[in-house]
Amino acid sequence: MHSIMQKLLAAALSASSILVARASIENPTLLQTPPMGFNNWARFMCDLNETLFVDTANSMVSRGLLDAGYGRINLDDCWMAYSRAGNGSLQWNETLFPHGLPWLGKYVQQRGFKFGIYEDSGNQTCGGYPGSYGYEELDAETFASWGIDYLKLDGCNVYAKQGRTLEEEYKHRYALWHEILSGMSNPLIFSESAPAYFSGSDNSTDWYTVMDWVPHYGELARHSTDILVYSGQGSAWDSIMVNYEYNTLLARYQRPGYFNDPDFLIPDHPGLSMDEKRSHFALWASFSAPLIISAYIPGLKDDDIAFLTNDELIKVDQDRMAQQATLVSRDEAFDVLTRSLANGDRLLTVLNRGNGTASTRFNVKRLGLDGGCTYTAKDLWNGSLIKIRESVEIADLPPHATTVYRISLPRRCSSVVPTGMLFNTASKNCLTATSHGTVSFEACNGHDSQVWQVDSSGKVSSLAVRSECLTAQGGSVLLAPCQKTKSQVWSYSVTGVLRNAASGSCLTEAGSRVSICGFEKDSQVFGLPSGVVVDE
Ligand SMILES: *[C@@H]1O[C@H](CO)[C@@H](O)[C@H](O)[C@H]1NC(C)=O
Ligand SMILES: *[C@@H]1O[C@H](CO)[C@@H](O)[C@H](O)[C@H]1NC(C)=O
Ligand SMILES: *[C@@H]1O[C@H](CO)[C@@H](O)[C@H](O)[C@H]1NC(C)=O
Ligand SMILES: *[C@@H]1O[C@H](CO)[C@@H](O)[C@H](O)[C@H]1NC(C)=O
Ligand SMILES: *[C@@H]1O[C@H](CO)[C@@H](O)[C@H](O)[C@H]1NC(C)=O
Ligand SMILES: *[C@@H]1O[C@H](CO)[C@@H](O)[C@H](O)[C@H]1NC(C)=O
Ligand SMILES: *[C@@H]1O[C@H](CO)[C@@H](O)[C@H](O)[C@H]1NC(C)=O
Repeated sequence: MHSIMQKLLAAALSASSILVARASIENPTLLQTPPMGFNNWARFMCDLNETLFVDTANSMVSRGLLDAGYGRINLDDCWMAYSRAGNGSLQWNETLFPHGLPWLGKYVQQRGFKFGIYEDSGNQTCGGYPGSYGYEELDAETFASWGIDYLKLDGCNVYAKQGRTLEEEYKHRYALWHEILSGMSNPLIFSESAPAYFSGSDNSTDWYTVMDWVPHYGELARHSTDILVYSGQGSAWDSIMVNYEYNTLLARYQRPGYFNDPDFLIPDHPGLSMDEKRSHFALWASFSAPLIISAYIPGLKDDDIAFLTNDELIKVDQDRMAQQATLVSRDEAFDVLTRSLANGDRLLTVLNRGNGTASTRFNVKRLGLDGGCTYTAKDLWNGSLIKIRESVEIADLPPHATTVYRISLPRRCSSVVPTGMLFNTASKNCLTATSHGTVSFEACNGHDSQVWQVDSSGKVSSLAVRSECLTAQGGSVLLAPCQKTKSQVWSYSVTGVLRNAASGSCLTEAGSRVSICGFEKDSQVFGLPSGVVVDE
């Protein structure tokens, strides 16, 4: 019967791209804040079994991780038998899971966890086990009957066909799953790996296109490369930085109900220093990213448990506005990021990417604050309070360490203007103001001329020349004294374009000009500061 259902659904889908309002951003109540929990993949890959999950669940309870919010136990690839049952149902590997997955689901649920699983949208999973292609409805029912409420759907073994491009085929497969999940009485949380299959190309159009639809179909998306696995070759820190970087390109998509997923926390990776592990956690929390630990929990050191259960940073991660911190500035050593929190506080996250201990200082205006007040900032690593006046000073930050301040704003200084880098997400070049009224795209250097403010009327000005606004004049873009003119009003779209209100044309990196708005063209897709209104 499910195959008839599926044909009907496929017909409905190809006739129109209707979106059912049951899951994803149309129903942000399904997953209001990013998921937290455990997944076996990066630590154990296919070496998984019942004992591992039982021991993990028990250890997460006894070591305080469940209480801290890590409430999900998720299986990744390789849990299955190589074939489906005679009636088409998926089966678990009975050697690995002697009591079966429904038993394991009950076991973890009795201890307070939710239970999640992995499948693939193609004919086979990445590990070569049965994929869901052609069995979507049956598999969804099977998972629900096993007590599962979360599905990570991978994208191995999907090919362009039937007149569809590869991107269209992925869209078709994930849309079908979305329809099925939306029709369930309790829709599974849907984690979509589709964008990861389009990241890292010389041409980002398809990647952006996939990113445009994932928030409509599910609650989170694995948007890029996998984090380095425990047994993998290479630098774990470099891998964290690669995924961090990808996440900075996608802030415009995140909102309550949909989260960008830069992949697992790997706190027992032997290649990481304590500062690096703590940075990984603090950066992911600053992004309001999923916090899914892939480690041998019973073997974690107390120091690891201590940072993973940092209540202040978890509160940031789980903040109900779910704003993703965005880059204020970037120089050779420091990435400075900021965002707002639901109670009006401002977050400041400073990462030393460099290889030496370093210090930096910058004006509070970079955080979108007016200045002229004394602000109280809480160091989220140790709770100590400091006062901030005109400038923020970060002294002697060790290499790869991160400082995080939660800054409360006195009532008379509580207004915040979205402030930060305006950069092309393909080239990573920063929009730069020059002193003679022109703009260009240059390597990011951390100067005020690359820090932009976008006010509520859509005017854009740099901190270096605050009285001048970004203006479209003919095909040119320049800085001119701020006035009441539509040629200085810009709107930002979730597709990443910055459109000028007077001409309707879009900011374009090549030639630093405006040109006809294209669809997800590399030269027209920009990252803007958090807090800028994003139009659908
Ligand atoms: C279960 O998996 C863990 C982690 O890979 C391994 O150490 C352990 O020996 C396995 N146990 C069984 C009973 O297979
Ligand atoms: C099931 O697990 C056992 C034990 O690890 C392994 O030998 C066997 O190949 C697995 N079967 C499948 C289908 O993966
Ligand atoms: C299909 O077969 C499996 C294994 O024999 C069984 O556990 C399952 O309940 C069956 N599913 C349905 C929908 O009948
Ligand atoms: C899966 O297998 C079916 C049947 O062999 C084939 O028609 C289809 O193209 C395959 N789908 C994918 C996504 O590989
Ligand atoms: C980039 O990819 C898109 C979609 O596949 C394509 O339409 C476009 O022509 C490509 N752009 C360039 C410059 O190759
Ligand atoms: C830090 O050192 C590594 C290894 O020597 C090098 O690859 C990297 O470029 C350096 N990073 C910076 C920011 O200087
Ligand atoms: C907290 O950490 C900061 C930065 O490392 C340090 O300057 C401060 O003295 C610490 N405060 C406490 C109470 O440990």
